[in-house]
Amino acid sequence: MFQLPTLVSLFVLAASKIVSASPCVTFDSNFNLLAFGLDGKDWNAGPQASWTNGTATDITATGRPPFDGSNTTCYLAQFYNAVYVLNGDSKNPSSVYIYDAAKKAWSTQSVTTGTFDSSDFKAILDHDTNVFYALSKGELFFLNMNAMTTANSSAISWVDARASPYPATYNPVMALAQNHIHFLDVPGLTAGEADIFVIHYSYFQPTSQLYSASSGSSFPATYGQTASFFQAEGVQQEFAFIPDDGSATYVINVETNTTEVYAGPTTKDAAATYAASITALVQLDSKGEVSFFPYTESDVSANTAAAWSKVSALASVAPASSSVSPSATGVKASGSHGASATGSSAGSSTTGSASGNTSGANIAARTSQGLVLACVLAVAACAL
Ligand SMILES: *[C@@H]1O[C@H](CO)[C@@H](O)[C@H](O)[C@H]1NC(C)=O
Ligand SMILES: *[C@@H]1O[C@H](CO)[C@@H](O)[C@H](O)[C@H]1NC(C)=O
Ligand SMILES: *[C@@H]1O[C@H](CO)[C@@H](O)[C@H](O)[C@H]1NC(C)=O
Ligand SMILES: *[C@@H]1O[C@H](CO)[C@@H](O)[C@H](O)[C@H]1NC(C)=O
Ligand SMILES: *[C@@H]1O[C@H](CO)[C@@H](O)[C@H](O)[C@H]1NC(C)=O
Repeated sequence: MFQLPTLVSLFVLAASKIVSASPCVTFDSNFNLLAFGLDGKDWNAGPQASWTNGTATDITATGRPPFDGSNTTCYLAQFYNAVYVLNGDSKNPSSVYIYDAAKKAWSTQSVTTGTFDSSDFKAILDHDTNVFYALSKGELFFLNMNAMTTANSSAISWVDARASPYPATYNPVMALAQNHIHFLDVPGLTAGEADIFVIHYSYFQPTSQLYSASSGSSFPATYGQTASFFQAEGVQQEFAFIPDDGSATYVINVETNTTEVYAGPTTKDAAATYAASITALVQLDSKGEVSFFPYTESDVSANTAAAWSKVSALASVAPASSSVSPSATGVKASGSHGASATGSSAGSSTTGSASGNTSGANIAARTSQGLVLACVLAVAACAL
């Protein structure tokens, strides 16, 4: 006979374990939206036209990382139709998991970290060279992915490129555009300013660049998340910056040195992560809900009129929960950034079948990881 209170509390315990689940969103080279580690599975939500009315396809395959890291990030290598996952496996935090999107196959690249701390960094994947650049504790590192769509049998290495001009305490806000890494929220910069690292010359520009807003205020000098918009061909020229308060979406154009200010995400969530295609900015919030902002390059009036919508193709198969937390990318344990998902608790947890009583069983059943743990614990409880 079940000891109900015990069982319920065990389910709650199991559900709380799911907090370590760390999904990420990105795209394949055809800009199908891919969501990894969402409700314990991986999904292809298809092209943008089907995000609001289609149903995502389960693409969970062997060799995938467990997506149980706490700062999991994934990156599209556009030339190679490959996705690279960093910190996808808490047991192998330095490994890069490679998803060959054409073959739907995973492989694991072993990586030598050297002095690189794989638990504390921010990275971009350079479009043309397919090299990761990461800032960690004030030091700039790189990791060359070559043309990899499958792992090499020999390890690759993080290389310490050089010291940055920033203190070790700087929590990086990094974005890629025109082969330049843009650093926002650098100590001493004011609103609308970014520092630039020129990848091809391994050169930190000594003066910051101003990206003034054509209307309203430019982006604040504050912590937030970024995502670079791809182009059909060539390097990214624009990136989005979403400050932690989610008050607006700033799109910085490094060709014109300007910023446009658009609607902030509906879900204000400092722990949300973002990805961009050519025509959309996608938000994955801390409840596992995915939303998008349709984006039209060079059409300010269309973007000004655009609104955020839920990706129902994902919500229908992997409904958001009240407990799943994505990778708190960029959230410093010590800092004040992203300490709370401000304002996000009100409207974003009701999608799909996760409604009703949160007695724990519903939540736990939503991920296989949680379910397995719950069952193990339930067996233990029954054996008592
Ligand atoms: C979804 O709607 C778009 C038009 O908005 C249409 O092109 C597409 O075929 C629809 N997809 C499905 C699966 O109904
Ligand atoms: C996640 O990132 C934060 C900030 O970079 C760091 O303090 C924390 O240790 C990381 N967690 C893990 C498990 O790597
Ligand atoms: C794989 O490893 C071999 C031997 O170290 C090296 O020559 C080759 O360039 C590597 N390939 C990639 C894609 O890194
Ligand atoms: C943007 O600023 C850079 C200087 O950092 C300058 O070289 C470039 O010409 C500017 N572009 C425009 C369109 O003003
Ligand atoms: C939720 O649980 C409470 C008490 O446990 C019960 O009164 C209520 O009817 C339940 N609601 C639903 C929707 O199951």
